[in-house]
Amino acid sequence: MSENYVKILDDKDPALRKKAESVTLPLSDDDRQILTDILKYVVDSHDESLQEKYQLLPASGLAAPQIGINKRMIAVFTEEVINDKKIIAKYALVNPKIISHSQQMTYIENGEGCLSVKEPHEGYVPRYARISVEAFDLLQDKVVKIRAKGYLAIVLQHEIDHLSGILFYDHINKDDPFYAIPDAIII
Ligand code: NI
Repeated sequence: MSENYVKILDDKDPALRKKAESVTLPLSDDDRQILTDILKYVVDSHDESLQEKYQLLPASGLAAPQIGINKRMIAVFTEEVINDKKIIAKYALVNPKIISHSQQMTYIENGEGCLSVKEPHEGYVPRYARISVEAFDLLQDKVVKIRAKGYLAIVLQHEIDHLSGILFYDHINKDDPFYAIPDAIII
């Protein structure tokens, strides 16, 4: 691992189970740098040559507690093909909050992964199919409202969970990991 990139803690580290603290706006230079570094990892991890050179693990998102920073900041970078169109979502969010969500649920058929989780945890992770998130976005330099569905909605919920010390496998039904969630959209 190069020192150009943030070091990611695993789920045995107590930092992953803390409730993260709200961040004061306007952002301090330190907080701005932390969030920029987190986003850099996520974006560069999609580049195959950088993956190889710096041993980056491909990520759709990363949260500050995963690098030992107990603050409400997350970065998200997703690339989806929807109706033959490539849709890219890129956010560096401060104090993200889910302000509304659908009743309908969704889940990824192959389960979720996390850069902080090395051991496999098989099973469906139920998420809201559609959400609205309010946050300050460093990239747009303003408070934004994001309406998300599909994979992006799942990634946002996964990362916002990290700010409450929640990991994806906490949501897996212990008695029946592949319990078919009624009316859910399968991705
Ligand atoms: Ni994660």
